[in-house]
Amino acid sequence: MLVRGIKRDDLDQITEIEKTCFSLPWSRESYERELDNKLAYYQCAEENGVVMGYMGMWRILDECHITNVAVLPQYRKKGVATHLINKMIEICKCSEITQMTLEVRESNIPAINLYKKFGFLEHGKRPRYYQAPIEDAIIMWKRI
Ligand SMILES: CC(C)(COP(=O)(O)OP(=O)(O)OC[C@H]1O[C@@H](n2cnc3c(N)ncnc32)[C@H](O)[C@@H]1OP(=O)(O)O)[C@@H](O)C(=O)NCCC(=O)NCCS
Repeated sequence: MLVRGIKRDDLDQITEIEKTCFSLPWSRESYERELDNKLAYYQCAEENGVVMGYMGMWRILDECHITNVAVLPQYRKKGVATHLINKMIEICKCSEITQMTLEVRESNIPAINLYKKFGFLEHGKRPRYYQAPIEDAIIMWKRI
């Protein structure tokens, strides 16, 4: 498995993964804008040209805000997200980022467990943060 920065050529696969994984997927245009965003970091996990999953974050001063993490259903529970998060933590350490944060649906046990495994801790909620379906977000933070 190769973990590397995303490229324009990956966007067809990434937008398909978005549609598979999220009820309100980001559009291809959103990802095209992200490729031009100097504060955005996107990595994907690829094998033989197949993008299995990806992860993104925005740098805001000395913090990193995780925007999305997604792995195609057939590649889940094989450590793909673990590889992606390890790579992002490595990038944060090299960029003098001191904290990472994210929001997650309170019912999303796989994602919450994933983040807890990396030492993210719950620090409050954003009521009704998500649409389709409406749901609270748990806010999580990790010190680097
Ligand atoms: C959450 C998600 C990214 C995990 O990806 P993954 O590649 O399957 O994760 P990994 O195999 O690296 O698992 C790492 C840890 O996550 C947790 N985890 C993953 N899947 C889980 C599940 N189905 N149930 C409970 N915990 C789970 C476990 O703690 C696991 O560690 P372990 O293998 O030592 O038990 C994946 O399920 C996904 O794409 N979900 C849909 C999109 C999504 O919800 N993204 C997060 C938005 S905030």
